[in-house]
Amino acid sequence: MAFDDNMAKDSNNGESLRRLLEYTAAYEMSTGSPMLAYVHSFGCQQNVSDGEKLMGKLAKAGFGFTDEPEKARLIILNTCAVRENAEDRVYGILGRYKKLKENDPQLVIGVCGCMAQQQCAADRIKNSFRYVDLVFGTFVTDRIYDMLWKVISGRLDNRKERVFDLSDSDTTIHEDLVQMRRDKVKAFVPIMYGCNNFCTYCIVPYVRGRERSRTPEAVIEEVKGLVASGYKEITLLGQNVNSYSYGFAGLLRKINEIDGDFWVRFMSSHPKDAGRELIDTIIDCDKICTHLHLPVQAGSDRILKAMNRRYTVNDYMKIVDYARGRDKEFSFTTDIIVGFPGESYEEFCMTKELIRKVRYDNIYSFVYSKRTGTKAAEFEDNIPDSEKGQWLRELLLEQRETSQEWLSRYVGKTLRVLADGAGKTDGTLTGKSYENIIVNFSGGEQDVGRFVDVKITCARNWALEGEIVK
Ligand code: 5AD
Ligand code: SF4
Repeated sequence: MAFDDNMAKDSNNGESLRRLLEYTAAYEMSTGSPMLAYVHSFGCQQNVSDGEKLMGKLAKAGFGFTDEPEKARLIILNTCAVRENAEDRVYGILGRYKKLKENDPQLVIGVCGCMAQQQCAADRIKNSFRYVDLVFGTFVTDRIYDMLWKVISGRLDNRKERVFDLSDSDTTIHEDLVQMRRDKVKAFVPIMYGCNNFCTYCIVPYVRGRERSRTPEAVIEEVKGLVASGYKEITLLGQNVNSYSYGFAGLLRKINEIDGDFWVRFMSSHPKDAGRELIDTIIDCDKICTHLHLPVQAGSDRILKAMNRRYTVNDYMKIVDYARGRDKEFSFTTDIIVGFPGESYEEFCMTKELIRKVRYDNIYSFVYSKRTGTKAAEFEDNIPDSEKGQWLRELLLEQRETSQEWLSRYVGKTLRVLADGAGKTDGTLTGKSYENIIVNFSGGEQDVGRFVDVKITCARNWALEGEIVK
């Protein structure tokens, strides 16, 4: 197999890549099929995007891919650390892989991503999951060839090499990372990495480091390339896109000028940095979808302060009111945490009240999860889990009632929808409208991956239903 000049650029050590290539090629020669890797990404879109970059690098080293861990010779779990249950899931899955390793001692198992960046998790894997060969954090994906070859060459020499790399000193953005996108219609494009906000409940600033932005030139070049190869929806990613160093609204306007039939979404926006300029840009630019994911987290000023969110409910409502002043149907979605340490039932009820006031099209709600190392982990938390669960159910009920009524504003109208794939029943498709609302409608495979006009006939709790307009 020929390898291009990017090889040296693409790794700190081109030699490791060369060796890996020989190794995978020899395997393919003797078995007649490529050496397969299974990469499973958990959590947010940023992590999914990191997983795609990792797969791109593995493809370049001669690996093929499978969705079945049993068929893989390399398994990598790209993990999330935002809530405890995400970590518990990974430990559960790793436990099941013990059998796979017993059946095939040549299998290489790796864990990377946000959870792996935490020393306590890496230590637990080191001591309790001794068959895991490779643990690396969020800063060193670029060194995958070196790490992987160290493990594999150890095997070939009958040495058991385990690699643990949690270093966080290299914050360079590597623009030359090849990427393997599975979806051919929708693409994630990170515009910045890291977070400086230190919300007191959140582990992200500790596992992804400080904010650093890609240049507008690099982002625009990537978007142009995606549009030219037929992508219809580009989602710009960052923990807080509004603090993009080169100016987020300006970037949106430049992307909007790129020729082609495509939509742009982005997430997440921090309310402290989102203002009129952002709303105006969304409304003025026809390719930027009229929807804002604006995580509010809580509806009481005391809790927002304890969370270090740096805005009040009043500040938040000013953004909502401004957007609805310009476009009365402007779509908002949000993230909410229930049961933050010290939150009273009355304060929780203020979050329900906020939901009614804003009228979100959708909410993503979570029970507070204590994360070691964050400030809130030191706060006294005296609300029992059972009560937090009850609050979450109440919140969802509130949202269901509000959104069904609010979504009915679209009944009788025609919305432009990007058809994603098959719906729940035969002859139906599902997709998202320009406003980011899930729409289920009758249609066939030929429409998947295309923009269609759908006349809305009915509003459900989280979604709309309709018929394609011919
Ligand atoms: N517990 C519960 N939810 C959390 N989130 C972040 N950290 C925690 C935590 N410790 C939620 C926030 C954030 C979303 C991505 O995850 O709502 O916006
Ligand atoms: Fe976490 Fe807050 Fe940063 Fe979002 S803005 S990643 S919630 S610290």
